[in-house]
Amino acid sequence: MTSGTAAVPGRLTIEPRFHPTLGLAEFAALLTPPADAVSRFEAAFADAFGASAAVAFPYGRVAQWAFLRALGIDDAEVIMPAYTCSVVAHAVVLSGNHPRFVDISLDDYNMDLARAEAAVNARTRAIIATHTFGYAQDVDQLDAIAQQAGRRYGHRVWLIQDCSHAFGATWRGRAVGTVGDVAIYAFNISKILTAIFGGMLTFQDAALAHRVRTWRDQHLAPASWHKGIQRRLYLLGAAAAFHPTLYGLTWWLQERTPLLNRLTRSYHLDEAIRFPPDAAQQMAPVEAAVGMVQLARYDAIIAHRRRRAAWYNDHLEAPDGWIKPPLRDGATYSHYVVRVPDRRRVVAEYAARGVHLGELIQYSIPELAAYAAYRVECPNAALASRATVNFSVS
Ligand SMILES: Cc1ncc(COP(=O)(O)O)c(C=O)c1O
Repeated sequence: MTSGTAAVPGRLTIEPRFHPTLGLAEFAALLTPPADAVSRFEAAFADAFGASAAVAFPYGRVAQWAFLRALGIDDAEVIMPAYTCSVVAHAVVLSGNHPRFVDISLDDYNMDLARAEAAVNARTRAIIATHTFGYAQDVDQLDAIAQQAGRRYGHRVWLIQDCSHAFGATWRGRAVGTVGDVAIYAFNISKILTAIFGGMLTFQDAALAHRVRTWRDQHLAPASWHKGIQRRLYLLGAAAAFHPTLYGLTWWLQERTPLLNRLTRSYHLDEAIRFPPDAAQQMAPVEAAVGMVQLARYDAIIAHRRRRAAWYNDHLEAPDGWIKPPLRDGATYSHYVVRVPDRRRVVAEYAARGVHLGELIQYSIPELAAYAAYRVECPNAALASRATVNFSVS
């Protein structure tokens, strides 16, 4: 057996591709969240991740969009990796800007910084650096690229770190997100910490945070009671769907019926550049209350992920052609990602043995039809999108 937990030999039971780390405290938090839960979560989050202020949003993508809008960045180029969640590119386009895609390095799936530097031009106003799968990028080099671009072109080039896979990951001992202008975190159910949905921006500069918060409060409505109810039901549904004893049914519905895809369509469509219908409502207090509980579990969650990654590193059988990911100090392992020569076959074989492997991320964004206007050749991103599987570290 090659997985960290025992596989179950029946097809009605299958080990989930991830399990949200939820306990009784998260369910208790659904009952009576305090009215000021969002501002409490912001303060606790800033404190936990070394920021002077944090500003909450309904989604990570909305946080990123709002930052660009609040700063009046428009019709500019935003440098970003070709291999990241498609919604990062959606947020750039919806903000009125243009993604400039940069290929990744196959060592750690992060944006290739030499190529990022070469892509900077007079229209560049921001660089989004995703610390993909929890591997910290060289934040000193990123900062230097942004500063140098600013000097060369006579305007600020903002460094936006996307820490959605890398809460608290460190680069040479310093937490990512504490360097640069702003950091983004996303809290959907598949993330290291969840707040049901939701996103957060963190800042070192309190005046900048104040400016973005003011913009948010002018442009996003308070969460409706309906949203609060819907989020509670979603968490209960997701906890059931990813529970090991019920996951066989979830998997069957996903593989054999269009039902789950229909349910999640409005939330995430790689090919449709739009936001979910409730994107203009702020984070709900109930989401913040769950986020607070998760924050208190952070150390245990990360320690567990690191142990699991080390276990796979030591024990996962890697036939010829398999490439395991690096083990790095400070990495948070949002996913344990392996490159395999024939993904379809490997996924089918593992499913037959009772383990559902994840297949994240299945596209290189510039290859998506919706991004035909921004197409550039990114061979490493294309390879990663076709050849990676991920093993559960949760
Ligand atoms: C790397 C990365 N950045 C940003 C986001 C956006 O998060 P959200 O779904 O909250 O908009 C995601 C989403 O999964 C992501 O994986």
